[in-house]
Amino acid sequence: MSQSNDAHPIGIDFGGSGIKAAPVDLDRGDFAAERVRIETPQPSTPDAVAEVFAELASSFDADDGGTPVGVTVPGVVRDGVVSTAANIDPSWVGVDAAALFSQAAGRPVFAVNDADAAGLAEAHFGAARGQKGLVIVTTLGTGIGSALLHDGVLLPNSELGHLEIDGRNAESHAANSAREKHDLSWEEWAERLTTYYRTVEGLLTPDLFVVGGGVSKHADKFLPMVDITTPIIPAVLRNKAGIVGAALYATRR
Ligand code: BGC
Repeated sequence: MSQSNDAHPIGIDFGGSGIKAAPVDLDRGDFAAERVRIETPQPSTPDAVAEVFAELASSFDADDGGTPVGVTVPGVVRDGVVSTAANIDPSWVGVDAAALFSQAAGRPVFAVNDADAAGLAEAHFGAARGQKGLVIVTTLGTGIGSALLHDGVLLPNSELGHLEIDGRNAESHAANSAREKHDLSWEEWAERLTTYYRTVEGLLTPDLFVVGGGVSKHADKFLPMVDITTPIIPAVLRNKAGIVGAALYATRR
């Protein structure tokens, strides 16, 4: 399959279950063509993922190689190098993901933390657009991702999902995966989220929380029960945020 990208930047979202890609129209903050999805190989080692990456990159029309490509990684990424791997294969630690993917795709690829990508997307096109002060975008999925944005400017790699709260790693207790694993009711989960967001607001005094991740489509079932002082609202881009944010990152770093 090959589809035209009209030289739009390509965003790739590398997640635990799927690797998804689309060209992104950055005037609209939306996909410029249909999204392509390939199952994440298991185990998701760098070489196995790079193979999928090459396949994905070739599913969009070849151009002169100048179309920027951004990819999200669910871990800390500095200058393209992954330094944590809480929910991906541990062999990612120390890997230069940008270099690996650039080689696989045959063009320059830029790597960004997945929550940071979502934060950039929400700040440019979504729930945090035009918001002044400190916005904390959190993604509730397998883990808890966080993006700190001050007046729209990203402070990367914040990793607030790994705060220690009540002697536990916060994401293992309050991520959406914990809700599913322990079959929590929305009320029970909202209690855990209240503890989590109260801790974060106590530490950082944000002006707004934006809550993303696939489960944010059910925000009306749990967000009103999260009892904190800071305004807290659902993300707008939902499962498009990673791809849109990765494309943004590739063009505006
Ligand atoms: C990782 C973060 C990531 C988050 C969401 C956490 O376990 O440490 O880097 O943003 O999961 O995927």
